[in-house]
This record gives sequence, structure tokens and C-alpha cells, in this order.
Amino acid sequence: MKNLADFGYAIIPGFIELPLVRELVAESRDSRAEGDFVPAAIGMGDQKQVVAQIRTDEIRWLEPQNLSGPQSRYWDQMEVLRVTLNRTLFLGLFELEAHLACFPPGGFYKAHLDCHQNSNARILSTIIYLDEGWATADGGQLRLYIDRETGINGASIDIFPEPGKLVVFLSPVFWHEVRVSTRHRHSMTGWFRRRPE
Ligand code: OGA
Ligand code: MN
Repeated sequence: MKNLADFGYAIIPGFIELPLVRELVAESRDSRAEGDFVPAAIGMGDQKQVVAQIRTDEIRWLEPQNLSGPQSRYWDQMEVLRVTLNRTLFLGLFELEAHLACFPPGGFYKAHLDCHQNSNARILSTIIYLDEGWATADGGQLRLYIDRETGINGASIDIFPEPGKLVVFLSPVFWHEVRVSTRHRHSMTGWFRRRPE
């Protein structure tokens, strides 16, 4: 996690091991097939709306009291990460909110910041990818604009959604987008939040 301290973001391949990734993606597919996913919205509160020109993913929020076995193993690993980051980087991460996500073929999410207007609750964004056999031609890269001064006008890196890979970055700082994906793209996206005021 040295990169997180130095640059504000980090990429950790193999954060979730493959057997667990397989269980998580199978559950996610089943749950979506049963109609548990909803089109993702942007904004919050009264401002919340679904805008398919901006993002086309479908999501299901995780309920900490109501996790499946594989989901609670994910949650436990995130808790270890939270405590470790607080101890080493003093980030003051208080709690996790997380959802399952699926971008259908043709899906994308235009450049954005993960912080809601009027709320600074989200400190750290975390994304874990769940699809095996991802090829460059499948697209679906996470494009992370790594220069915090220039944002979307500056340098970026493309991160391919390889299974079990974790990407973390400071939520208020880094613009990012999901490039068009030619296949179903599954992930678990979480945000560590600060203690409510
Ligand atoms: C998000 C997001 C990136 C990704 O859900 O806010 O930016 O790679 N996801 O899935
Ligand atoms: Mn985002």
C-alpha cells in the first residue's frame, strides 16, 4: 500500500483469491438473473437520477446484516484492509458501503469523481473485479486520471478488470471512467466513509 501513501492510489492484483472470486461472480450473476439489480443512479437524495448517457451499470447494494457466505468473506477482507490502512496511513476510515455491479455489453461510465456534491463522506474508493479471461479487446478498462492537478486533461492509466484485482484511490481526488466493455463486466465496488458528523 506504499503507492497509496505516495500517489493516492494503488493496484493490488490477486487481492481476492480465485476460488472466492468465482463464488462471488456466480452469486452476482444469479442475483441479477433473479431481478435483484437496479440501474445505477447518479447524485444523492432529491438529486438522484438514472442517466444512461453517463452510466449504464446495474447494481445491488450489499446489506452488512444480510451477507451470503462469500460476501462476508469479502467484507472481512475489507475490514482487515480498513484497520490496516487506519493504522499505517491514519486515514480515519470508519465504515464500508458497497454494491455489486454489472456493466452489460456496451456498458460504460463517463468520467466522474466518486464524491457526491454536498458530502465529503467518502474517503477511499475500492473496486474488485470478478471476471475471468479478460482480453484487451474486451475493453472495459478503468481509466484513472492520475494527475490530481490536471484531472481529465492530464495523464491517465488504463487498468484492466482482472479477476481478484483490487484498485483503491482517494475518492475526492481522482477522476476516472469505465471504458466501453464488450462483455458483461462484474465487480464489487465499495467506499470507505468517514465517521458521520
Ligand atoms: C464506480 C466506478 C469503476 C470500475 O462505480 O463509481 O467508477 O472500474 N467504477 O468499475
Ligand atoms: Mn466511480
